[in-house]
Amino acid sequence: MCLSWRRYLAQRILALQNKGIPSAAKNFNLEKMNTSRSAELFEKAKTFFPGGVNSPVRAFRSVGGTPLFFAKGQGSHVWDEDCNEFIDYCCSWGPLILGHAHPSVVKAVQETVANGSSFGAPTRLENELAELILKNHSYFEKIRFVSSGTEAAMSAIRLARGYTGRDKIIKFEGCYHGHVDSLLVKAGSGLATLGTSSSAGIPEAYAKETIVLPLNDKEALDKAVSDFRGQIAVIAIEPIPANNGLLLQEGDFLRYLREVCTREGIILLFDEVISGFRVGFEGASGYYGIQPDVLAFGKIIGGGLPVGAYASTAEVMSHVAPEGPVYQAGTLSGNPVAMAAGIAQLTECLRPGFYEELKEKTDYLVNNVLSYARSKQYKFNMFSMGSIFWVTFSDQKAIRRSDEIDSEEMQKFAPFHRSLLEQGIYLGPSGYEVGFVSAAHSTEDLDRTIAAMQHALDVVLG
Ligand SMILES: Cc1ncc(COP(=O)(O)O)c(C=O)c1O
Repeated sequence: MCLSWRRYLAQRILALQNKGIPSAAKNFNLEKMNTSRSAELFEKAKTFFPGGVNSPVRAFRSVGGTPLFFAKGQGSHVWDEDCNEFIDYCCSWGPLILGHAHPSVVKAVQETVANGSSFGAPTRLENELAELILKNHSYFEKIRFVSSGTEAAMSAIRLARGYTGRDKIIKFEGCYHGHVDSLLVKAGSGLATLGTSSSAGIPEAYAKETIVLPLNDKEALDKAVSDFRGQIAVIAIEPIPANNGLLLQEGDFLRYLREVCTREGIILLFDEVISGFRVGFEGASGYYGIQPDVLAFGKIIGGGLPVGAYASTAEVMSHVAPEGPVYQAGTLSGNPVAMAAGIAQLTECLRPGFYEELKEKTDYLVNNVLSYARSKQYKFNMFSMGSIFWVTFSDQKAIRRSDEIDSEEMQKFAPFHRSLLEQGIYLGPSGYEVGFVSAAHSTEDLDRTIAAMQHALDVVLG
């Protein structure tokens, strides 16, 4: 048993006795965190995997130090292999809206896997998840389950091309749609963090079919649409761009995209891999009240297991195989264990007041940290939408495009992250990534986080 379980209980009692915001800085031993087991595992991992990881941003390159190897998650807390305990705001990069090991998700997974993990044939659970989603999401009529957000975006693009008979894609600088060749052009966080705008191994010809525009720029959009009139299959956007900071768009710009797409016969693709089921059950489409033509989902939809999906009207989806000519398939698509996890998680999301409560928690965290930063006149800001938040070392009131981010100032994220880690708070290891509040975060968690962020701000900016 991790010693920190006991420490956690002791802290809870202490906090109750003090009846105030516990000082995270006091509760954790800043200098003495033992991470030797993680370091050892990382050395070994480097002999197996490129950079020692199976996904680049996990390598801690932009914040320095050794990535932590996690052993356990429960609710809002995670424990690493050295038994250090953290309040987690990475939440597996978004899927864990209920926190770790939620009892109904665990039960659904255990019961399902006991009857077999995969059949390569239809199961009742695919119908159940689809029905649950369709009953509560009014922005599409048919859905196809895949196994990741990348696959969802890739398939959605193929569908758009197959449906329109056109080849070109418009995407936006700073939006990430997975590591699909034609979409990995000036994409989001992993690449921004590595300081390069594209990936090796992508044929010029692919990149040439992709037009990359700045976000929030109607003129650039008008020009591209007129320069390539009749050639553009799809405009793909994260309606709540959350992969290169949180670049909140004005509803007016998103509505303009809708207008242009309708006028020009272009498919409007909302990549809701992060925002879907996150800012509300109907995601950004519901938040802004905008009807996209095709939607891509991932993360939350699978309850922490690998699921993605794309969806549209019955008419557009009739172009997908075996009904239509756009081929797309998957050995593990609609996997029953993953479907069961998705059903369990989304059922919880549908409880009355679920999203309101998440937003209240996030506002509480953000407003308290911001008011402290303002009282100290620190150059710092936090943006949020629903339960997504982003910290930035800037005093700009709004940041809507990736080129508005001051990359020099963003260097301050590394010591900020370090200080938070030392105080038992885990954020994703990149300043270009957003944080997530889950239903499992308690007021005590939030209070400890506020205190820790205040201390980290003093360390970095004081
Ligand atoms: C908006 C968006 N689209 C697509 C993806 C790719 O999803 P996955 O990592 O599941 O392939 C991501 C991943 O972070 C994402 O944020």
